[in-house]
Amino acid sequence: MTYEEAKQALEANGQPQVLQFWEKLDAAAQAALLAQIETLDFAAIARMQEMLKQSGTPAAAAGAFEPAAVEIPEGDALAACVEQGEALLRAGKVAVLLVAGGQGSRLGYEGPKGAYPIGPITDAPLFWFHARKILGLDRTYNTHVPFYIMTSETNDAATRAHFEEHDYFGLPREDVFFFVQGMWPALTPEGKIILDKPGHIFMSPDGHGGTLAALDRSGALADMAKRGIEQVFFFQVDNPMVEIADPAFVGLHAAKGADMTLKVCLKRDAHEGMGVVVVRDGHFAMVEYSELSDEQMERTNPDGSLWLAYGSPAIHMFSYAFLKAEAERNMPLHLAHKKIAMVNAAGEVVKPEKPNGYKFEKFIFDVIPNAKQVFTLAFDRTQEFSPVKNAEGNDSPATAKRDIQTKWRAWLAEAGITLPEATPVEIDPAYALNAAQLKAKGLRIS
Ligand code: UTP
Repeated sequence: MTYEEAKQALEANGQPQVLQFWEKLDAAAQAALLAQIETLDFAAIARMQEMLKQSGTPAAAAGAFEPAAVEIPEGDALAACVEQGEALLRAGKVAVLLVAGGQGSRLGYEGPKGAYPIGPITDAPLFWFHARKILGLDRTYNTHVPFYIMTSETNDAATRAHFEEHDYFGLPREDVFFFVQGMWPALTPEGKIILDKPGHIFMSPDGHGGTLAALDRSGALADMAKRGIEQVFFFQVDNPMVEIADPAFVGLHAAKGADMTLKVCLKRDAHEGMGVVVVRDGHFAMVEYSELSDEQMERTNPDGSLWLAYGSPAIHMFSYAFLKAEAERNMPLHLAHKKIAMVNAAGEVVKPEKPNGYKFEKFIFDVIPNAKQVFTLAFDRTQEFSPVKNAEGNDSPATAKRDIQTKWRAWLAEAGITLPEATPVEIDPAYALNAAQLKAKGLRIS
């Protein structure tokens, strides 16, 4: 893009201030600014401005809804799901999609969250848990499960380097596909693009909902099509206990012909910060924790159980066809009022005392109302969910290490090996994906 082209585009869209310090920039800074301007999506910026105009109206309350029914397949129904899921895995029709573009600010770890050490004995990183499970699937089903990893501009290089350093944790390199999530500008209350340096536009990630557009833009969707992928397992980087593409989940989703299936688990308590899957106006939807009133969170059924008993830890199955269709649509925007350091007319960087700008994000669950068939599958959180969100307390490295070792100790007990409580345990998922596989190894203590 040339200076003239940039100037024209910015003027046409009411953003000429982006070039106000042009004359003062050296050649490298000018080139970098032009490169940033080239990435601007003015149609999206117009949608953001529209949203700002309407922000005088209060955010929509969750409204009237009912909790979505929850599936708990058992017996023959469960066996049929497992069989169908295994057949799809064997046929190479299943892909895994990890969103790992977040900043992990609550954990306060320098570097991609996936590189955080969590293995109780080896300090294996979160990525090891995920990659080795995929390798376990490859080995169990004699297949290739492609692994799509969404990074962000801030952690893309470090994430790729981490995989290189660990030799892709044993996965075939050609089965690992990194792609970068989108970034876009923040706006002033007047809808103007913000400069955080005289030659630099302040950009922020477009949220985990940006996954869909990024999948398309990066060629990941095309790669899935080339491989004949029919079903996609979606998850977040922070949960070392996640069961990746487990056959029952894949099979239930496929058997139902669902566009999307969500795993849900019983909330720890009424106020646990999880979204809930609901039916509203005949459509499935996710209601965020922040949209729920205390009364809604605390309401109970006649038997004393919570009315909104189940929460979503963002573990989903999507059909490839639904993902592709959704990637072509505009997703709703969510805005957050934030403090953003910005340059003043004199070109000096000013740190604000109170929120002065708006960041925008897309959320993956906003696709739910567009899905024709949606199911929710309940799982036992003691077996599959213990995320690393905080540095300490609930959902921290300490609780994740504790919970995963409890699970592994139970596997070992099933295999006839009982260890003293304090003995640290770690099982490579590529060696045994589950208790049955571990038992089949015929381990003995000698
Ligand atoms: P979280 O909402 O837990 O955010 O992301 P985070 O960035 O990891 O942590 P905090 O809130 O700053 O402490 C849930 C999942 O969504 C991904 C994260 O990497 C994580 O797997 N994510 C989040 C993205 O991929 N992109 C985003 O813009 C935001």
